[in-house]
Amino acid sequence: MIRRPCKKCSLHRFRKKIVQGRGLIPADILFIGEAPGKAENITGEAFTGRSGKLLNQMIKDATPKDWNLSVYITNTVFCRPTDSKQGDNRQPTPEEVLACSPNLYELIGRVKPKQIIFAGKVSESYYKKEFPDAVAIQHPAFLLRQGGKSSPYYLTNIRVLTEVFERWEED
Ligand code: URA
Repeated sequence: MIRRPCKKCSLHRFRKKIVQGRGLIPADILFIGEAPGKAENITGEAFTGRSGKLLNQMIKDATPKDWNLSVYITNTVFCRPTDSKQGDNRQPTPEEVLACSPNLYELIGRVKPKQIIFAGKVSESYYKKEFPDAVAIQHPAFLLRQGGKSSPYYLTNIRVLTEVFERWEED
């Protein structure tokens, strides 16, 4: 848990809420996305906008009803990357990702995931060395730009998720 108002990088200047994530702690599966966006900055929960709805749908479509898997969803940085009050979305810089990494490691220590899944290239590129057993899926925002559920990438993501979930599913 972030106990104090984190000021490890300049993203604190325009944030409304620190977005640690959402889901269960501990959890079997940990998704790491990119960064909070406009909606998340207001709600304080990860993936609550359109991308989040699609991610929820993907998780649902890859999980048969009687399966018992717990999930937590977070990001490489816990504050919205912006340099202005208006909030222009951008990717987190390497410095911001590095500055937030103690927050992420602390969270991972509490979530104790059996499997990490990178949602998108940003988390994959920064953390694949640290977590070589993690798998990657396409970022839901990318899928939205490709037609959402009707994009062929959607089915690829479902296949990857189903395979991973099968590995960790317990009765
Ligand atoms: N919302 C998030 O919390 N993370 C993303 O990567 C995109 C949208």
